[in-house]
Amino acid sequence: MDKKKIKKIAVLTSGGDAPGMNACIRAVVRTALYNNLEVVGVRYGYEGLINGDIINMDAKSVANIIQRGGTILKTSRSKRFMTKAGMETAKQILKKNKVDGVVAIGGDGTFKGALEFSKVCDIPFVGIPGTIDNDLAGTDFTIGYDTAINTVVDAIDRIRDTAESHNRIFFVEVMGRDAGLIALRSGIASGAEDIIIPETKTDIDRLVLKLKKSRKDKSSKIVIVAEGDEAGGAFAIAEDVKEHMPGYDMRVTILGHTQRGGSPSCMDRVNASRLGFAAVNTLLEKRGKVMIGIVDKKIHFTSFENAIKHIQQPYRDLIKMMQVLST
Ligand code: F6P
Repeated sequence: MDKKKIKKIAVLTSGGDAPGMNACIRAVVRTALYNNLEVVGVRYGYEGLINGDIINMDAKSVANIIQRGGTILKTSRSKRFMTKAGMETAKQILKKNKVDGVVAIGGDGTFKGALEFSKVCDIPFVGIPGTIDNDLAGTDFTIGYDTAINTVVDAIDRIRDTAESHNRIFFVEVMGRDAGLIALRSGIASGAEDIIIPETKTDIDRLVLKLKKSRKDKSSKIVIVAEGDEAGGAFAIAEDVKEHMPGYDMRVTILGHTQRGGSPSCMDRVNASRLGFAAVNTLLEKRGKVMIGIVDKKIHFTSFENAIKHIQQPYRDLIKMMQVLST
C-alpha cells in the first residue's frame, strides 16, 4: 500500500440507499476537514467514479443533512465497476484527482467491488456498512437497519388495527433479498404469528398447522415474509395457505421501498457518525482494505472478504422466542 501522507480523500455511497447515509457523509467530511484534509464527494457511487462525477465538499455542503433520508451524493448499482476496464478508469480518475484515500458507504455489492478494486489499486480504501438489510458480517448493525425496522413495525401496527377489525390473516412482505433480519426483528416487535425468511427452510404445512392451531380467540394473525424467501414472496405463500384454509379471510401487503426512505432514527444517526469519524481516522493511519463496523459497542475492523460472507445468521434463539411469545 502507498505509504505517502494522506492529503485528500473521497467519499461515495453505493448500492441501495439507507437512512443514515447522509449522517455518515457529514461525519466523513467534517472529520476530514478537522484534520486539514481536502475532501471530495463522488456522485452516483462507483458509476460516478468511472464517469469522474466528483464534487468538492466543505463544511457547509453537509449542513442540515443529518436528519435526511436517502443520500445527497446519490447512488447506483454499477455493473461497469465490476469489469477490468471500469476499474482501470476508476483508478485513473482517482489518480488524476490526487485522491489518497476512499471511503465507500454501502452493502455487500459495494464491498465485493471494493475487494476487487483493492487488488488493482493501491489507494487506501475503507468501507462503511450502509444497508437496511443488516446482512454484513463484522458489525452488529448496518446504517439504515434500525430506521427500516422501525418503519416496518409502524406499518404492521397499522395493519394490525384493520386486521383485528375484520378478523383477517395478513401476509406482510418486507425487504431482504438474501437476508431475513428485517423480518426477524420486526416480527418480534410487532407480535407476528410467524416469520418466513430465506435462511430457514419454508414449510407451508407447518405454517398452516400453526395458523390453524393458534388460539381460537385471536382476531388477527400476521405473518411476515422476507422478499427473498424460497417460496416466492407473500402473494405466493398467501395463495398456498389459502388452499389449505379456504374459510379464512386473507390479505397481502408489500411494504416495498417505503422501508428505505424516511428520517434516520437516533441510533442510525449516532452509529453513522461514529463510523464516518472512525473511517477518516483509519485512513489517516494509512490503513485500508477494511470495513469498519461496530461490535459490542466498539469500533471493529473486518476484511472485505469476511464482511461479505453473510455469516450474520438470524439468531435461532430469537426465532424460538418469537414462536413462544406469539402463542
Ligand atoms: O439491499 C437493500 C435492498 O433494499 C434489499 O433489501 C432489496 O432487495 C433491494 O435493496 C432492492 O433494490 P432496488 O431498489 O435496486 O430494487
